[in-house]
Amino acid sequence: MMYGVHFTDDADGEAFRSMARCALSHAISPQELTFVVGRSPSLFAPLPAPEPGYAMTAPRAYLELLQDVICHRAEDRFPLLYDVLWRLKHGEPELLSRASDPAVSKLSSYAGAVHRDIHKMHAFVRFHRRQSGSGDLYFAWFEPQHFVLRRAAPFFVDRFASMNWIIATPDGTASWDGRELAFGPALPKPEKLEDEVLGEVWQTYYRTIFNPARVNPQMMTREMPKKYWRNLPEAALIPGLVAKAQRRIETMDDMPDVPPRFAEKIALQRKPEMAPADALAALRAEAARCRACPLHRPATQTVFGEGPVDARLVFVGEQPGDSEDIAGRPFVGPAGQVFDRALSDAGIDRAGVYVTNAVKHFKFEPRGKRRIHSKPDISEVRICGSWLTQELDLLNPDLVVALGATAAHALSGRNMAVTKTRGAELKWPDGRRGLVTVHPSFLLRLPDKGAQETEYAKFVHDLKLAAFLIGSKRESVHAKAA
Ligand code: URA
Repeated sequence: MMYGVHFTDDADGEAFRSMARCALSHAISPQELTFVVGRSPSLFAPLPAPEPGYAMTAPRAYLELLQDVICHRAEDRFPLLYDVLWRLKHGEPELLSRASDPAVSKLSSYAGAVHRDIHKMHAFVRFHRRQSGSGDLYFAWFEPQHFVLRRAAPFFVDRFASMNWIIATPDGTASWDGRELAFGPALPKPEKLEDEVLGEVWQTYYRTIFNPARVNPQMMTREMPKKYWRNLPEAALIPGLVAKAQRRIETMDDMPDVPPRFAEKIALQRKPEMAPADALAALRAEAARCRACPLHRPATQTVFGEGPVDARLVFVGEQPGDSEDIAGRPFVGPAGQVFDRALSDAGIDRAGVYVTNAVKHFKFEPRGKRRIHSKPDISEVRICGSWLTQELDLLNPDLVVALGATAAHALSGRNMAVTKTRGAELKWPDGRRGLVTVHPSFLLRLPDKGAQETEYAKFVHDLKLAAFLIGSKRESVHAKAA
């Protein structure tokens, strides 16, 4: 028998869970379901009501994946989500850790796209002031790629708690009156958004933080894609600032003054576009409060990356170990000591590079008084990936080196064989230059001294290559895609 399931375009996790409860309680397989998105009537029978008393359970990692994926616009998210749920419950409980499974891999890429969209929304919403009977109302128009308004809105409550605001999108609106966050239907796109004062604030702010020495037009358009420009007051400045950048690097003499009356307003604006060092400190503070996955519970603290904000070289490990969890700093335990020695043998000063991890909490199994390292699974890597993305966005390094397979997965979004990919420059999917090498703890696990020495020499060689690449001209190195 075939059943038809209807979802609205922007169906939420609750709608999906209640459908899944009906279908699972009657053991209806994915092959017996046809999903219809939108309003067209289905020719197939509707699902029966759930069996009374049937309680639907799912692993936490699946529920977290669902929460992200449901916001994606792709219509196949519904059958894919049900397919994975069905298989988790019918003999494949480890399915989510099989990144090579086509359905899991597609869902992970949807979740990543949703995270990036939320990040873009946090970065590119601009409020325009309007007079209203009860005071100033701040209005923003934004066109996200996915259904992320509900997920992104709490960030603005945090940042603009004292303002009355509305964020309108083609899919719906979020509004805040100083007390309550409410969601409503879509509003038509306003014809005119400009507010002279706020527009000027943004322009001044952008001119001030614009660092001509870091101009990379390709990177700028990737991070601030042109489709967002039309709603950004400061975007009008970009072509002129880029054109003037070279001269400003030479003279550094035309940095604009910030008119004092704007300075206070700027302080009220959102934090992500503060000076990079402050923004990194703010990000670190935000990550310290991260509760996005269960790993925070047994861990002592978030272990965020460390190093100078203008580092050109970033190293990404897997996750903090026992010593790092206690110290709150990456790579300070046994693996960190090997890493430090190899950096020094490769002629790299650790103080000049940025060192971080794919996952920011220590995952372990308690065994007596000991805590034994346990590999993070892909959903943990995926969830934590948004911190790594934000670190890299702020640092904008020349080269990102993955130490081991977990870091390579976090950066590439797929499984990579370290031994096959090490030793050659590649490009990560975000366009950054990259390199893969082994994780230093791999060297610690080698049984005999001979193998240890050989592998250590290869590791140092890879680090020297990293140093060479950031000193070399981009064109001179053949880059293959990750
Ligand atoms: N292993 C890692 O991957 N990171 C650390 O910070 C320590 C050990």
